[in-house]
Amino acid sequence: MSASGSVPKPLCPLPARLAVLLSGRGSNFEALADACERGELPARIVLVVSDVADAVGLGKARARGISSKLIGTGPGVLRAQREARLGAALEEAGADLICLAGFMRVLSAEFVSRWPLRILNIHPSLLPSFPGLHAQDQAVRYGVRVSGATVHFVDAGTDTGPIVAQAAVPVLPGDDAEALAARILPLEHGLSVAAVRRVLGGGWKISGRSVTFPEVRDSP
Ligand code: GRF
Repeated sequence: MSASGSVPKPLCPLPARLAVLLSGRGSNFEALADACERGELPARIVLVVSDVADAVGLGKARARGISSKLIGTGPGVLRAQREARLGAALEEAGADLICLAGFMRVLSAEFVSRWPLRILNIHPSLLPSFPGLHAQDQAVRYGVRVSGATVHFVDAGTDTGPIVAQAAVPVLPGDDAEALAARILPLEHGLSVAAVRRVLGGGWKISGRSVTFPEVRDSP
């Protein structure tokens, strides 16, 4: 129930149909899948897509019996072709929400416009600091004292969309990129799940870049 006493309308019929896009290890995918299994997310993962043939996350999806696809590898595959296949797979799976979980490709503006406010990305820094590749390395090199993770809606830029959730960790003396990444990763897992839950819960509004969620009261 919201503070006004009304129950927000969920983003889509629940359980929601999630698609997860990944390129590597897939630990954020696992966090989402575990949360679905435990009933902590009103959702199920209907499709996992990887652009990397030997992505560990792809194997994890197969082992869980989740439908998975490899899309877009091979020399000479153009982005337009890859995105056409990706779009068709997402439509076919009936995805309500798409989670980029370590997906190392930038989606075109045209593709993103087909899924307005339906694509989330997890990024291992406190955006707008350190977008793009090697975020933890960027943070260590810059000398920041605090870093963290951000979940945001995906727009046509690189890690530029409206922010849904953030959480911070300290950067400690002597940290290298690997040590900082290891401190941020568990935070990402919780944040991914929390952000998906809030987005699916509906009732949120976007004004400019600001996303406002309905306040939740514990008791009537
Ligand atoms: C995470 O740090 C994520 O924020 C970044 O890539 C990494 C993917 O990790 N975009 P995993 O594949 O989810 O384990």
